[in-house]
Amino acid sequence: MAKKQQVQDAKGKLGILIPGLGAVATTVIAGVEAVKKGLSQPTGSLTQTGSIRLGKRTENRSPKIKDFVPLADLNDIVFGGWDVYEDNVYEAARKAGVLDPYLLKAIQPELEALVPMTAAFDKNFVKNLDGTHVKEYDTKYNLALAVMDDIKNFKAQHNCDRIVLVWCGSTEIFHEAADIHDTLAKFEQALKDNDSRIAPSMIYAYAALKLGVPFCNGAPNLTCDIPALVQLAKETHTPIGGKDFKTGQTLMKTILAPGLHARALGVQGWFSTNILGNRDGWVLDDPDNFKTKEVSKLGVLEDIFRPDLNPELYGDLYHKIRINYYPPRGDNKESWDNIDIFGWMGYPMQIKINFLCRDSILAAPIVLDLALFIDLAKRAGMEGVQEWLSFYFKSPQTAPGLRPEHDIFKQLIKLENTLRYMMGEDLITHLGLDYYEEGEA
Ligand SMILES: NC(=O)c1ccc[n+]([C@@H]2O[C@H](COP(=O)([O-])OP(=O)(O)OC[C@H]3O[C@@H](n4cnc5c(N)ncnc54)[C@H](O)[C@@H]3O)[C@@H](O)[C@H]2O)c1
Repeated sequence: MAKKQQVQDAKGKLGILIPGLGAVATTVIAGVEAVKKGLSQPTGSLTQTGSIRLGKRTENRSPKIKDFVPLADLNDIVFGGWDVYEDNVYEAARKAGVLDPYLLKAIQPELEALVPMTAAFDKNFVKNLDGTHVKEYDTKYNLALAVMDDIKNFKAQHNCDRIVLVWCGSTEIFHEAADIHDTLAKFEQALKDNDSRIAPSMIYAYAALKLGVPFCNGAPNLTCDIPALVQLAKETHTPIGGKDFKTGQTLMKTILAPGLHARALGVQGWFSTNILGNRDGWVLDDPDNFKTKEVSKLGVLEDIFRPDLNPELYGDLYHKIRINYYPPRGDNKESWDNIDIFGWMGYPMQIKINFLCRDSILAAPIVLDLALFIDLAKRAGMEGVQEWLSFYFKSPQTAPGLRPEHDIFKQLIKLENTLRYMMGEDLITHLGLDYYEEGEA
C-alpha cells in the first residue's frame, strides 16, 4: 500500500462563501439546510452519496467517499456570500423559482438569516444587470482589500476554522488574457491603476488567494485562469479550480461522446440548442456574455474526439451551439441535440437527445462537492490548479500547455485515484494485471 499523505482533519466550521447568490447558490444552500433537517436527500453529490472501490475486487472494500476521506460535515458548514441585489437567500430562492415554496417555508428562518454582503461589481462585465447593492471604490486594489475584509470578518463572526469561495456569479463578458494578467506584479499594478481588463470575478479570486482561501470558478469567465493568479495560488499554497459547472447538455456530451469515440464511430455534425428562462439565461442573452459560454462549451468535443488524430472519423465534424432566452421555462432548461454519426462503410445514422433538465438542480451538488473537495485539497497540502476536479467543469483549467481531459469517465478515475493517493491506498488503473500475475481479479 502507498504511503498516506498528511491530510489534516476537518476540525471546526467550514465557511462556504459564494459570490452570486442567485439560482444555483440558493439551491445548494436550501438543499444543505433541507438535508440537515432530514427533509431531503443530497442526490447527485459524490461527497454525500458516492462510494469508492479500494484494493482488489476480491477485497470487497467500497466505503462511502465521506467515510474514506476527512470531509467537512454538513452540520459544520456555514454559508455566506455577496450579491448585487440585496435580497436575502429566502427571497432570492423564491424569485429563482427552482424549489417548491412549501419546502422553502420549512427552512425560511435559516435562509432569511443569510443576507448578502455588498458586491464587487462592474456593470461593463454584465450589461444586463443593474443591481445597486455594490461596494463604492476608488481603485480596484482597494476593492480587493474590502473583499478581503469581508472574508476575514465573516470568518471571525462565524467562528470558522476554514473558508472556501465558489464563484456562482453571472457569466462575465468574453475577454482574453492580456499582458496585465501575466504576472502577479503586473496584475497588482493593474489593480492599482483601475485597469478595465480586471473583471470583478478576478477581484474575488485575488482576495481569496491572497488570504490562502481556496477558490473555485463555476462560470466560464477567465477569473483565476490567468498566470498571475496561478502564481498567487502557488505562493500562498492555495488550491484553485475552474471553469464552468458541467451540467445539462455538456454533461450529456461528455457522457455520450466518449462512447462513440470508444467504438470508433464517426461524427459528422453535432447541433445543440437550448431554451432557458432564468436570470442566467437573461445575462447570456447578451452576445458578449454568450460568447464566454460558447467558447467554454465548444472545446468539449474537439478534446474528446481529437480530429487531429482521427481525421477520417472527426475531421469534418460541424459543432454548433445555441442558447435562447425563453422566460416561460424559468430554470427548467430544455435542450435538443441532433448528432449525425456514421458507421461501417460510412453508413449514416442519427441520434436525438431531448433533455428536460433543471439547471440549478444539476449544479447545486457540484457546488457542494467542489467546496468540500477543495477544502480537503487545502488540508492535504495541495496547491495551484486541481485537475482532479475537472470532473465538475465544462472547461477544466489545466497546467499551461496541457489539453484538458473532458471524458467524464477518465475524469472520475482521476478524481478517485487522487483520493486513494491522499489516503495511501493503491491507485486503481483497471488494467487487471493482478489477474495474470496473481491469478485474482
Ligand atoms: N445552473 C447551471 O447549470 C450552470 C452551469 C454552469 C455554469 N453556471 C454558471 O453559474 C453562474 C450562476 O448561475 P445562476 O443560474 O445561479 O445565475 P443567476 O443569474 O441566478 O445568479 C447569479 C447571481 O450573481 C450575481 N452577480 C453577478 N455579478 C456579481 C458580482 N460581481 N458579485 C456578486 N454577485 C454577482 C447576480 O446578481 C445573480 O444574483 C452563472 O455564471 C452560470 O453561467 C450555471
